[in-house]
Formats: sequence, structure tokens, C-alpha cells
Amino acid sequence: MPKSLKNYTTEIADMANILPIAEVIRNLAEQFPGQVTFSTSFSFEDQVITHFVLSNQIPVSIFTLDTGRLFGETYSVWSATNEHFQTEIKGYYPDHSLLEPFVEEKGPNSFYESVENRKGCCYIRKVEPLKRALKGNVIWITGLRAEHSANRHNMPQLEWDEGNQVIKYHPILHWSTKEVKDYINENNIPYNILHDRGFVSIGCAPCTRAIKPGEDFRAGRWWWEDNSKKECGLHVHQQAS
Ligand code: ADX
Ligand code: SF4
Repeated sequence: MPKSLKNYTTEIADMANILPIAEVIRNLAEQFPGQVTFSTSFSFEDQVITHFVLSNQIPVSIFTLDTGRLFGETYSVWSATNEHFQTEIKGYYPDHSLLEPFVEEKGPNSFYESVENRKGCCYIRKVEPLKRALKGNVIWITGLRAEHSANRHNMPQLEWDEGNQVIKYHPILHWSTKEVKDYINENNIPYNILHDRGFVSIGCAPCTRAIKPGEDFRAGRWWWEDNSKKECGLHVHQQAS
């Protein structure tokens, strides 16, 4: 990690320990004007952060990765969010020069056939567009939560993303599900109605299912694969040291 950014990681972590989240984000936006961005998949968690940013008029850009395979309900909450906050959340899309040959060669649903195909699809539809979305930014804010998977339990709130050369900040990493839901309800924030139908972690439609009570939160994502392989490449965790 570049030394100056390493210093900032520690500084931000200290600030995050004492200031309310909206103040931390505002502070970052002031320190790095035009270089703080937030990625939303319109999940419960992301809607909380969108509310922090937009209701406090903090100058942070917000984007979503439109894979082309999202649920209809996700597009509905995208529209509802634009309307609610009088904004236009920017979409990033797969590069057609990568996607067209991939689908031509492997077919539209090749992700069910092998982990390699699934990772190829995630790379083209999410990871490559993410790189474009993060370009020029110093801070990447996400809605990651520790409860969502075992390998997120011990994550730090601030981490260095070597691949994208940005500092990642997960402001609600340690919020409980109840805290997230209460915040959404108390503030009347639009949310993805799939959350009312047993969907916890929501990604692409063909790769996400509802979970049963007691099932692991990640059980509904790429359910046909081993647990150890279930990451799409957006989040590669490294200790910020
Ligand atoms: S994933 O790695 O399994 O796909 P997950 O669904 O848990 O990620 O979401 C964690 C965080 O990653 C979200 O809070 C959001 O910041 C980001 N994220 C995930 N999917 C998208 C997407 N399609 N567009 C933008 N950000 C996303
Ligand atoms: Fe493709 Fe499924 Fe990954 Fe979406 S989650 S990019 S459809 S493999």
C-alpha cells in the first residue's frame, strides 16, 4: 500500500471509532473531494448507506453494477431509490466485447456448469465493470456486514484493496440485522421486496435463492457450489496493516 494511504487507513479507523457514520463519510468526502464512491446493490444494508449519504447531502458518488441478470425487483428498488432521493444512481455495465464472445461460446447459463464458468461470468459482469467504476477514487464504501458470511466475521472496517488500489470502508460492518431493518423502517427508506420473501443476500437472479430459517445467510448465493468457492471476486479480503 502507498505509505500516505496507509496513514490515512489508520486515521480513518481512529475517526470511525469516535464519530457518527455520516460524519466519517462527510469527513472523507472533504479530505478526498470527488474521490469517494459507494457501491450499492440496493440491499437493505446498501439502502442504509445511501440514506446516510443522500439525506445528509454528502458529495459521494454512488454506483451500481448492473450485471444484466438482476432481479426485476432490484430494478424496481433502483427506480424507487432514484425517485425517493431525487437522484440518479449510476449504472456500470459489462463490456460487450467481453460478454458477447463469452455467452456465444458457453451459452447464457454456463455458470451452473462449472466454477470456472461462474467466475468467468462474475468477472465480466461484475469485477471488470467495478474496476472502471473505482478508477480515480481513493475510498470505496461498501455495505458489507460481518453477519453475512464466516469469512467476513473478522474483517476490519478499513482495508486496503491491492487489486483496485483503494481503501475500502465498511461503515455498517458490525450492525445486526435488527439494527439494519429498524433503520430502514424508521426512516421509510425504499427496499427490495425480496427481503420480505426470505432473500437475505441478494445478487443476480439465476444465482440467488431465498433461505430457510436457520440457514446460513450465504446459503442462498451460488447454492450449487462448495462454501469455500462462494465469492464473486468483488471482495478480496486482506488485513490492512
Ligand atoms: S458479493 O461479493 O457477494 O456479490 P454482497 O452481495 O455480499 O457481495 O454485497 C456486499 C457489498 O458489495 C454491497 O454492500 C455493495 O457495496 C457491493 N456490491 C455487491 N453487489 C453489487 C452490485 N451489483 N453493484 C454494486 N455494488 C455491489
Ligand atoms: Fe453471472 Fe451469476 Fe456471477 Fe451474476 S452472480 S455475474 S449471473 S455468475
